[in-house]
Amino acid sequence: MSGRWSPEELPWEAFDPERVDPNLIPLIKAASMVESNGRDYAAYLNRVFADDVQVCDLINGWAHEEVQHGVVLGRWAKLADPSFDYDAALARFRAGYSIQVDADASIRGSRTGEMIARCMVEVGTSSFYLALADRTDEPLLRAICKRIAADELRHYALFYRVMKRYLANERLNKVERIHIAFVRVMETEDDELAYAWFAANADGGTYDRKQANRAYMREHYALYRPHHTRRGMTMIFKAVGLKPNGWLSRTMAALAMVLISLRARWLARA
Ligand SMILES: [Fe+2]
Ligand SMILES: [Fe+2]
Repeated sequence: MSGRWSPEELPWEAFDPERVDPNLIPLIKAASMVESNGRDYAAYLNRVFADDVQVCDLINGWAHEEVQHGVVLGRWAKLADPSFDYDAALARFRAGYSIQVDADASIRGSRTGEMIARCMVEVGTSSFYLALADRTDEPLLRAICKRIAADELRHYALFYRVMKRYLANERLNKVERIHIAFVRVMETEDDELAYAWFAANADGGTYDRKQANRAYMREHYALYRPHHTRRGMTMIFKAVGLKPNGWLSRTMAALAMVLISLRARWLARA
């Protein structure tokens, strides 16, 4: 699954500094950090699926694409802010944040659960890049975000297929699947994104988790519109085995939109 597109295919010459929204630059820098974690997640997933060569191959191709996302976003951030040092920021991020790669079994309790958690991450990333593409007027960033959002959607489909295969044997019930999905979605406000924001944007100083989290989430939540939450909710529902387009999914999407808007407004005031 590696190399579906090359960074050189992107319209780099279309970059228009006049159309860069300064509020988006810190978000893009932080995203460029997080994407680079793909390789560490791949190391962990290779241990979790050690005896499944086919899945390990897919995971390694997936990680290659995630790392490429980080490189491309870092390159855009450097155009938008020539003072940005991607390598130095990445070194800071990696020194201060790492995921546990030495587990021999999934921290989600099963391979099905692991894939549901990965699906949730891809729901988050595909929604994020789609919302960014909708928000920005800068032509290069829009092209980059559309390309990445399409990858993230394909990643979701990949993990969904693997999840279905393991579900046939592991037989997690819907409550277990919903619980895993819920826990993973709630982890969004854990350290990873906050520390990425800090490493990419703070010039020195010490890491204040609460402050970094607020700074990141304020801009992040402000991106979303109802069609993003509706689309994201159908993907979540599908992953846990519920009807993707039923009344419950639509109601939950509307509720999520209200919560996201309230949180965005609260963070803007804080
Ligand atoms: Fe990605
Ligand atoms: Fe992805």
